[in-house]
Amino acid sequence: MSTQALFATRASRMKASEIRELLKLLDQPGIISFAGGIPDPALFPKEEFAQAFQTAMTADHSDRALQYSVSEGYGPLREWLVDHMRGNGIDCGAENILITSGSQQALDYLGKLYLSPGDTALVGWPTYLGAINAFDAYEPRFDRLHLNGNQGAAEYAAAAGEGRVKFAYLSPDFANPTGETVDLRAREGLLDLADALDIAVIEDGAYQALRYEGDAIPPILALEQKRKGSIEACRTIYCGSFSKTLSPGLRVGWIVAAQPVIQQLVLIKQAADLHSPTLNQMATEQVARTCFDSHIPMLRRTYGARRNAMLQALEDHMPDGVEWTRPEGGMFIWLTLPEGADGAALLARSLETVKLAFVPGRAFFPDGSGANTVRLSFSNSDEATIREGIARLGQVLKTQIG
Ligand SMILES: Cc1ncc(COP(=O)(O)O)c(C=O)c1O
Repeated sequence: MSTQALFATRASRMKASEIRELLKLLDQPGIISFAGGIPDPALFPKEEFAQAFQTAMTADHSDRALQYSVSEGYGPLREWLVDHMRGNGIDCGAENILITSGSQQALDYLGKLYLSPGDTALVGWPTYLGAINAFDAYEPRFDRLHLNGNQGAAEYAAAAGEGRVKFAYLSPDFANPTGETVDLRAREGLLDLADALDIAVIEDGAYQALRYEGDAIPPILALEQKRKGSIEACRTIYCGSFSKTLSPGLRVGWIVAAQPVIQQLVLIKQAADLHSPTLNQMATEQVARTCFDSHIPMLRRTYGARRNAMLQALEDHMPDGVEWTRPEGGMFIWLTLPEGADGAALLARSLETVKLAFVPGRAFFPDGSGANTVRLSFSNSDEATIREGIARLGQVLKTQIG
């Protein structure tokens, strides 16, 4: 019997991420990469973390920092998050918060909690690839979430067939991969749909703090709480992360939800990894408490200038027929090439001829459509590099489609 024949059926659905495979190629000299959606390491609050880790390892704290801990997460960090979420219009207590190892773990746990094989997850078309992969292990079907109100609850339910619709997943602020924001009306419409279908809403707030223009729109969980009074009556589950603001390497994220959801997720966490690393949570709490509020404006200025540079360079260099999004925040701009163009072929040619990397958009579509799309990230390159990279992209595009 072959090794693979022993694997569970879910294993056959797991595939290597196109993005991670690609990142392996990027160490060559002269490459400009708009591929990975990662923060610029020059912007990490390094001194603050050095200090925080040192404090956590002093005699007063090190027994706790190095010991097993509770699955819910480090108390003072959860308390900081209670205040932080209040600043975003969400009124919750520490009992509504679970600390996770990044928001990626939150997505895995939520897939585990909600999805039986054959159930339906409603997602954007395109949507965050890591969410597709996390949910896919639980063998669901994916259906397209329409945020324009054009599809009613009955149609979603009918399409779900034998299984049922369990949740809608979306990243309403500056989504990965499109950079787009869901407006207030569409957020309210989604809550109506969720009530009609009696499903959960998974709100991924990974990029929420990184807004460069325009007014903040309340999180979906805040809007639902306004309707229903208490977080305990809410079906929305908010996933947060320090990865895009403080550090992705420490793997600290969180979930905010009604207590029955958190209590069940705690059981899942106990079975999976007991708890997220205490030392990282303690350091994150200290850095968040002392510098989160001053760090964010700096990130907004820096990334905002990079977004502006990329938008201007696209105006200057893109041939006719290429369209792109104008995100108000986050890390991504999404390109749509003329029908029939292929983002993957473009990448191969671009790496070969002008040493430019980006991510072909198809991987972000659960049905493998979207061949003529491309994701560009502006977060990890300075403005001069962005201008040079987009000029290179213009060069290859003109030979491919011009
Ligand atoms: C939309 C979105 N959600 C979640 C994540 C996972 O981030 P982390 O696990 O580092 O919090 C990412 C990472 O790129 C993302 O883009």
